[in-house]
Amino acid sequence: MQTTELLAPLHAQMTAWRRDIHAHPELGFQETRTADLVARQLDAVGIEVHRGLGRTGVVGILRVGTSPRSIGLRADMDALPVQEANRFAHASRHPGVMHACGHDGHTAMLLGAATHLARTRQFDGVVYFIFQPAEEGLGGARAMLDDGLFERFPCESIFGMHNRPSLAVGRFAVRAGPMMAGGAFFDIEVTGKGAHAARPQSGIDTALVAAQIAVSLNSIVARNVPPVETAVLSVTRIQAGDTYNVIPHTATLGGTVRAFSREVMSLVETAMRRVATGTAEAYGAAATLDFRENFAPTVNDAAQAEFAARVCSELVGAENVDRQPPLNMASEDFSFMLERVPGCYINIGNGMGEGGCEVHHPGYDFNDEALPLGAAFFVRAVENKLPLGG
Ligand code: NI
Repeated sequence: MQTTELLAPLHAQMTAWRRDIHAHPELGFQETRTADLVARQLDAVGIEVHRGLGRTGVVGILRVGTSPRSIGLRADMDALPVQEANRFAHASRHPGVMHACGHDGHTAMLLGAATHLARTRQFDGVVYFIFQPAEEGLGGARAMLDDGLFERFPCESIFGMHNRPSLAVGRFAVRAGPMMAGGAFFDIEVTGKGAHAARPQSGIDTALVAAQIAVSLNSIVARNVPPVETAVLSVTRIQAGDTYNVIPHTATLGGTVRAFSREVMSLVETAMRRVATGTAEAYGAAATLDFRENFAPTVNDAAQAEFAARVCSELVGAENVDRQPPLNMASEDFSFMLERVPGCYINIGNGMGEGGCEVHHPGYDFNDEALPLGAAFFVRAVENKLPLGG
């Protein structure tokens, strides 16, 4: 029987977990209810539970047989500060918080796989189920690593997945090498001299300086980054002043940078510092740049990507596994785990559904039809990596 069929009995259970988590979304590092649900279910099927890694993270350990070989499987648990627009029964009950990225589905799939593996035990080795908090820019993966994730739970390889609405249900996408961009957030603070707006000669206008900096920053990707490399620099906020007749004393700019290599990221940071301070100086103002690299580029190990693609092909047929998906400029903090342990991050088809929503949209919902397939991937990854009699 196909593994997806074997997981069919858990479909209703996974759907119930998924909708329960969707109705009770929690922001990064506040996933206490979600972590409780995960820990309770792991415990109920006899999986050893460790809590509090990266504050609200949970790790389950399932040992079968005598082999010391190991594998890590990871899902994220946090929601986004988005007001849900959906009106269905499992819509968010927490105003302004929503599972708009499908982490509710990721958690339910890994919990389903853990439940199945604990019951069937068709492998020889150690599985670490890693339920990570705070993926959405708050540093959950790094928090778990700082708490000794891989020292306490040494994984030989690690796998994770994200749903993709533009990919049909029943399909996977797997890519070796760089897959998603690294991401940094930045703030630039400009200090000038406040004055009466009718007497500009006695002040230094930070609104004007901030505008010039924003324009000049756009030259960095065009003129400093090598054309064969890829980078994005977006200024997403500019704030200065409170009223009509005062030249603002200070101004701030903020935004994000994305790139597929650490080298390009640091090149952009250096150029930004030069442009921001140099432009401010030209107007008699001063500027400081705070540049925070929140995400490393997500880079899949070639051999583990090959392995993941083989598992996907076994489940849905090679014709339903996209081996050359386009590079994704979004970021993912599983990247920090992949820097430490060889592994692979894959995409699972979510389908567009009604209304055609991408992730982070207020009308998005994870597609429950994908649950058995995602869980089956985790199950078969374990059974292939840690074979009986291997
Ligand atoms: Ni996400």
